[in-house]
Amino acid sequence: MNIKSFKVERWLNTYESDADYEMAETDVEPFTLKELLELGDFKKLEEQLLSIKLGYNNPTSGSDKLKETVASLYQHNARIENVLITTGAIEADYHVTNYLANQGDTVIAQFPAYQALYSTAEARGAKIKYWRMKPENEYKPDINELKRLIDEKTKLIVLNIPNNPTGAVISEVQLKTILKWAEEQDFYVLCDEVYHELELIKGVVPPYGRSLSKKAISVGSMSKAYGLSGLRLGWIVGPKGIVQKCWEGKDYTTISNAPLSDFLAIFALINREKIMHRNLTIARKNFKTLLEWFKEHEYFFDYIMPEVGVLCFPKLRNIPLTSEELCKIIFTEKKLLLVPGECFDMPGHLRIGFGGDSKNFNTCLSILSDYLNKNFRNK
Ligand SMILES: Cc1ncc(COP(=O)(O)O)c(C=O)c1O
Repeated sequence: MNIKSFKVERWLNTYESDADYEMAETDVEPFTLKELLELGDFKKLEEQLLSIKLGYNNPTSGSDKLKETVASLYQHNARIENVLITTGAIEADYHVTNYLANQGDTVIAQFPAYQALYSTAEARGAKIKYWRMKPENEYKPDINELKRLIDEKTKLIVLNIPNNPTGAVISEVQLKTILKWAEEQDFYVLCDEVYHELELIKGVVPPYGRSLSKKAISVGSMSKAYGLSGLRLGWIVGPKGIVQKCWEGKDYTTISNAPLSDFLAIFALINREKIMHRNLTIARKNFKTLLEWFKEHEYFFDYIMPEVGVLCFPKLRNIPLTSEELCKIIFTEKKLLLVPGECFDMPGHLRIGFGGDSKNFNTCLSILSDYLNKNFRNK
């Protein structure tokens, strides 16, 4: 399969190891193992961890206990046989789109979006139609536009709720409408929901897609909202037949998820309230700081504040450089890593991640302020 280079991942891999400061990450400040285990009975957990056999998981689709725990997150349509544990959401997205998208199919994907949500389907030969979220509409989706894109060959609609890079969401009414169309016209809806729990503003996130319809395939992860990206653990919750086919696909990619991660993911999901309390506290604090910062820097940015997640995607103003040039110069001079809109085929924008440690985040904002003010203010 001839797949396009993954722009944002390549960008991060080029610069990240030399960065001193970062606003490029998409997850909440990761837990240390110690910090995670301290949420429970540390001694007992330590003993349990030390006795885990470092073999393949049995079954390779994830332990029954983990699949059961994941299934319990969804209100409907999720039993153990509907769940496949994967190596991150990235593997989940890959297998769902790889299996469902074929030559001659139409796949409709939100745009801008994380590239994994459409490049695999494109490489499989499907025709990709983009459902564009426009900055002038505050990245709010126009469902009538989506309706016009659906044709008789539509096999899959790919949604990212909330969206990377914009942080915008689809409303519950809109999601229910899309799922009703899927049921009537017999296509599937992939809902990548890896930022779902990070509600900055209460009541804006719709329920998980899979809780609403059997035509929905939900993808989740321990990475973003849970701050546990190093577990490399995600999941698919979908129709039994599709889950089985994705498992067969996984035989060719990673075979099995890691038993250590399986154990820690069960522990984290059981303690999700404590985890989300810590993570939402960080996200909301940084969100408030960012909002105030943007108000002071309106000369440089047209911004639309996100409603969920730890990402936003402002447009640059009054800066005589492309977003890529700006990111490269700031990186060279200040060792501060940002992501340019070019990584999402939206030049002129910056993706700012604000899930990191609050003190570091404030330092990053000061560095960016100093740089912009010194070089471009009223010039
Ligand atoms: C929308 C989306 N899906 C999936 C992923 C991959 O996440 P994971 O670490 O779970 O593989 C990312 C990572 O940035 C993402 O933004």
